[in-house]
Amino acid sequence: MKKILVATGGGDCPGLNAVIRGIVKRASQEKDWEVWGSYEALNGLMEEPTRLIRLDEKTVSGIHVTGGTILGTTNKGNPMSFPEKQPDGSIRTVNRIPWLVDRLKSKGFDVVINIGGDGSQAISQAMFEQGMPVVGVPKTIDNDLSSTDFTFGFQTAVQTATDSFDRLVTTANSHHRVMIMEVMGRNAGWIALYTAIAGGAEICLIPEIPYDLNKVLEKIRSRYNNGRGFVNIVIAEGATAKDGTVTATLGELGRHAVRLGGVCFTLSEQLKEAGLEADVRETVLGHTQRGGTPVAFDRVIASVFGVKAMELALEGKFGHLVVLQNNDFTSVPIKEAISDYNFVNPKGTLVQAAKGLGISFGD
Ligand code: F6P
Repeated sequence: MKKILVATGGGDCPGLNAVIRGIVKRASQEKDWEVWGSYEALNGLMEEPTRLIRLDEKTVSGIHVTGGTILGTTNKGNPMSFPEKQPDGSIRTVNRIPWLVDRLKSKGFDVVINIGGDGSQAISQAMFEQGMPVVGVPKTIDNDLSSTDFTFGFQTAVQTATDSFDRLVTTANSHHRVMIMEVMGRNAGWIALYTAIAGGAEICLIPEIPYDLNKVLEKIRSRYNNGRGFVNIVIAEGATAKDGTVTATLGELGRHAVRLGGVCFTLSEQLKEAGLEADVRETVLGHTQRGGTPVAFDRVIASVFGVKAMELALEGKFGHLVVLQNNDFTSVPIKEAISDYNFVNPKGTLVQAAKGLGISFGD
């Protein structure tokens, strides 16, 4: 029997279970492949005793409709810079990839399918360079991986954000208020941009287009007449003002990033200080965007990614990431996929179309 180890790493995302199910279903059509899962990314493999689970059709039955991941996940820790206690008590960070690959081999694993975002795929690439056959599956609600048209989880996050946005519109209208809704997106404003277009926002603030507070104020005031009017703003958690006002940060987040959150309150204060007369209310959507049932589109791409990842393993096409490009499922080298970040293009069609709809980006 050949053994595959599946791991889900980084922040969770609707559709992870559909990928796992796709891998297992496709593998079960082969006679000589066994699928295993590692709990909480590769921690389950690294720990002693290991925490691994045999995944068969029964284990994955019906899980494509559920949110989260049956394997659990973590966005803390990185085997490429692992803190290790030295004999003198000091802590030194070491690269545990060679050890990890030895361990995978000693446990009899022939292939790893690593489902995760850019951080997890950097680990995939490191394991591959160390001689481990690895296949990657791109995951993130932020849609910030450049080599795939969409990552699964993104459409679900946009739907959740749009549903909330729609609710905020009616209450903004009733009270003549300015509503600021903060969505996820630390470096890329995709969720904010799609939600702004879907919901019909007046203002959309994203990390790629630093905003000018005066332009934001101008747009808000243009929507009020004698104190009557309302405005709905979508702001990505990583948005910043042109004058360098930094996003609210909430401390450390583990692997490679600082935890963000609360930029809607910063903007609200800025508007008040600049003399905005209207009443302002803030909403942070936070992790509601990450949880829950995946929408149909995400279930489809996640399921196909799972099947395709298994097929790459069968073909022996390692060091590759499954992707969706121009409505077709294909694969690209992981190295290429992680070398280019998927920012919203401020001059791109989508931003221009949003401007055509009257949405201000504060630029
Ligand atoms: O990377 C995906 C993401 O959803 C970011 O948009 C967000 O900043 C981060 O995860 C939040 O992570 P955590 O779950 O650790 O708060």
